[in-house]
Amino acid sequence: MAPQLTGVPGSGAAAGGAAAVKPQFHHYHHRLPPRHHHSSPASLLSKLAFWSVCSLSLLLAFLLLSPAAPAPRAAPESPRRSLHASPSSTTSWGGAAWEKKVRASARIRRSGGHSVLVTGAAGFVGCHAAAALRRRGDGVLGLDNFNDYYDTALKRGRAALLARSGVYVVHGDIADAELLAKLFDVVPFTHVLHLAAQAGVRHALVDPMSYVRANVAGLVALLEAARAANPQPAVVWASSSSVYGLNSHVPFSEHDRTDRPASLYAATKKAGEEIAHVYNHIYGLSLTALRFFTVYGPWGRPDMAYFFFTKDILAGRPITIYESAGGGSHQTTISRDFTYVDDIVKGCVAALDTAGRSTGSGGKKRGTAPFRTYNLGNTSPVPVTQLVDLLEKLLKVKAVRKVVKMPRNGDVPYTHANVSLAQRELGYRPSTDLQTGLKKFVRWYLEYYHPELAEKHKLRTSSNGKGSRGRNGSSSSAR
Ligand SMILES: NC(=O)c1ccc[n+]([C@@H]2O[C@H](COP(=O)([O-])OP(=O)(O)OC[C@H]3O[C@@H](n4cnc5c(N)ncnc54)[C@H](O)[C@@H]3O)[C@@H](O)[C@H]2O)c1
Ligand SMILES: *[C@@H]1O[C@H](CO)[C@@H](O)[C@H](O)[C@H]1NC(C)=O
Ligand SMILES: *[C@@H]1O[C@H](CO)[C@@H](O)[C@H](O)[C@H]1NC(C)=O
Repeated sequence: MAPQLTGVPGSGAAAGGAAAVKPQFHHYHHRLPPRHHHSSPASLLSKLAFWSVCSLSLLLAFLLLSPAAPAPRAAPESPRRSLHASPSSTTSWGGAAWEKKVRASARIRRSGGHSVLVTGAAGFVGCHAAAALRRRGDGVLGLDNFNDYYDTALKRGRAALLARSGVYVVHGDIADAELLAKLFDVVPFTHVLHLAAQAGVRHALVDPMSYVRANVAGLVALLEAARAANPQPAVVWASSSSVYGLNSHVPFSEHDRTDRPASLYAATKKAGEEIAHVYNHIYGLSLTALRFFTVYGPWGRPDMAYFFFTKDILAGRPITIYESAGGGSHQTTISRDFTYVDDIVKGCVAALDTAGRSTGSGGKKRGTAPFRTYNLGNTSPVPVTQLVDLLEKLLKVKAVRKVVKMPRNGDVPYTHANVSLAQRELGYRPSTDLQTGLKKFVRWYLEYYHPELAEKHKLRTSSNGKGSRGRNGSSSSAR
């Protein structure tokens, strides 16, 4: 059963025309050369045999005596491949220079600051969140497997952006228990912001197992590492508005039903919420799930509608707009509670700041730890037709619209967040409307992919003016 990967962008998400990436997206099919930092002195071999026997018997003893046994570490020479990791994530790590880089990146630079492991840091939300934390002086270490679900050049561009602000993104998999144990060994993280996941609803029709690997097995591996760490970090992680599934009570509130998911993606996020509860209950991990509602902005995801609509409108290709079947009580076209990435990041940061401590140590719970769930949305759903109107205006190009009945592919017709809980407990107040946020996205998009058009559109700001964060990546090194 070989793990299925969408090797070629567009092969997988073709179902939704999603990740179909055209040539100017700069495909990079090569991988970074593997770096092996470890020499293997012969004496280590006997140590390896000795410790294998030791850890094996220790493991047996622990399994019999305690449910909270730490996972045994494999010896340093063993190839660092996780059974759960996808092949694209296979990489090597370790060594004194590597550890120094990890420590430097995670070093706290303000009093009372956090030291945060940000998973999915080369991803859309992850790169913005990591940059925001770093800007205010928190220690930040990124972790990402740079998988090719979508254009990896974009991920490397984000990581390059972070590198310039002093954030190192470790190339590795959240399901690599050995790597995680090492990271927690090197850095006493106070917090984990867990954003790594297999995202997207429609891709599950093509590669269902990728969702199970990242969102279920990966989450468990991460929580295992967190509960075994000393000190235990507080964990804040991204769930999704998709857990509301077929719920028709609007706006969606945290106490609404979430037991009728409409996609495998939603089901794995829901499973994640239940799994997180277990780790809170047994090990005293402080856990906060954030249910994001359709996040958009500069450095966004190419598999999302606002992004590929922009690409297709500029290319003169028709775009497909779904009409909700059955003429439901709401809109005729699909509506989304589009939320600007800066608002989401503010919610993430507030969740970290208010997280409250994990209580466990040595894998044992010492008391009750916080368990929280919040919606992070914009609270104003916009029909996708209106999204297209706005894009036409910003791009100065008329879209060729193809309106079709929504297929049963996992998309839900309508999302609308009730954020009063996040407002009360996190001080969360979304402040960017769709027009303002889309303008920032379009400015970034044009500068990143079509600098010549950006000039023409006069969306470009003066060279050292208050440009969008996207401007930082528009240099050739980030392409
Ligand atoms: N963007 C949205 O609209 C939205 C909405 C709801 C929830 N979310 C959730 O928010 C989080 C961030 O989403 P995003 O839009 O930034 O997605 P993204 O795909 O841009 O970022 C996720 C990152 O995680 C990395 N990753 C995936 N599997 C990994 C693994 N096994 N090990 C290490 N890294 C891995 C990917 O390479 C990617 O860079 C995800 O958990 C997603 O499910 C996003
Ligand atoms: C929003 O959620 C809060 C609980 O956090 C609830 O009291 C309130 O009634 C909800 N509002 C609506 C309009 O559903
Ligand atoms: C981009 O650069 C500007 C100015 O150099 C800076 O203020 C901003 O924080 C940077 N954004 C990111 C995401 O690094």
